[in-house]
Amino acid sequence: MKQLSNRHILLGVTGGIAAYKSAELIRRLKDHGADVRVVMTAAAMEFITPLTLQALSGNPVHTTMLDPAAEAGMGHIELARWADLILVAPATADFMARLANGRGDDLLTTLCLATPAAIALAPAMNQGMWRDAATQANVKTLQDRSITLFGPAAGEQACGDIGPGRMLEAEDLARHCAGLFNSRLLDGVQLTITAGPTREAIDPVRYISNHSSGKMGYALASAAADAGAQVTLISGPTNLPCPDRVNRIDVISAADMHGAAMAMMGECQIFIACAAVADYRPNNCADQKIKKDNDSMRIDLVRNPDIVSAVASHSRRPFTIGFAAETQDLLRYARGKLERKNLDMIVANDVANTSIGFNTNDNAVTVLTANGEQNIAQMGKSQLAAQLIQLIAQQFLNVQS
Ligand code: PMT
Repeated sequence: MKQLSNRHILLGVTGGIAAYKSAELIRRLKDHGADVRVVMTAAAMEFITPLTLQALSGNPVHTTMLDPAAEAGMGHIELARWADLILVAPATADFMARLANGRGDDLLTTLCLATPAAIALAPAMNQGMWRDAATQANVKTLQDRSITLFGPAAGEQACGDIGPGRMLEAEDLARHCAGLFNSRLLDGVQLTITAGPTREAIDPVRYISNHSSGKMGYALASAAADAGAQVTLISGPTNLPCPDRVNRIDVISAADMHGAAMAMMGECQIFIACAAVADYRPNNCADQKIKKDNDSMRIDLVRNPDIVSAVASHSRRPFTIGFAAETQDLLRYARGKLERKNLDMIVANDVANTSIGFNTNDNAVTVLTANGEQNIAQMGKSQLAAQLIQLIAQQFLNVQS
């Protein structure tokens, strides 16, 4: 069965250059089995005609609340109730601002206020407008109201700028919509996640470690279990409770984590390396507490095994996702790790920004694959984990099919 069969999708089109992609989007949504109705703002009609979208959707296009003919066919409240999902693509900065402010000053904002359905937005705007503090505040408000954002992607823009703000491609949006309805996309899939820090002993009372709290990895474990996966969480030392329906294996050092991960090979179908693993460990761990006899001391360090690389080069290699925590040149280093470690995806995490990354409640990431990249804007780690698991599941299922 097609993933969007019997689903009613109300596609809102607002006035940005990416409105031309709405035509293709309607076709992709219909390919996935959806019944599509279109609402256009006045500005959208400057970019593409209602006639085009009517022909493609096979339904009359709604443009105003004050159209007696349209209201006689399907009134705006009826339309709001008809939808299983309102997808606004493209969603301009202005539309997002009006939605965040609870405005009902045109048909589309009114429908968004009136609908009991889920709402998803595919932002499309200039990179400066996307990065602007006002837009980011609106994004946060909308996400706090459980409105989902798909993208934006980064890259070259119609205006010539390069950066985040491109609308996702039609096929990606159609798959994301299907993902919203398939919350148990990973039913029965064996998934292993590493989380938290490792501790590398110097002597019986001291160790080398880092600031990872485990929050991101634990949120992923929880989201994967919600999606139906059989989750094993290999966790370094944290203060977090084990999420429901998750099997936790506690480890201390990188060597322990490596051993636990290798023991999963064979049954594991998806491996997510979220742990902040120490790259080096002391060559020798002193048997007794080291005494401070000298003014300085040296500790000889040796390389730890690279766990995610070992997983990705295993003969029974699972679909493998790494993280890249970087303080500079984030995307370049992340892409380097994606290639060098032979990963299917990498999640780039800017840990120079102290409001995201290590030991914070929020995160913001860019997900890189061999062919593309996608930003997930700042939000709580649980919400971000749910979006990441949807993305991972879609890529994993693509590879399987
Ligand atoms: O735990 P939180 O406080 O919630 O913080 C979350 C986080 C910042 C730790 C997380 O989002 C994150 O970015 N994790 C990766 C941290 C890291 O060590 O990144 P890296 O760029 O050094 O390593 C690259 C990848 O190789 C990672 O997937 C890492 O797990 C893996 N690795 C690294 C070294 C090693 N010896 N073995 C590995 O498997």
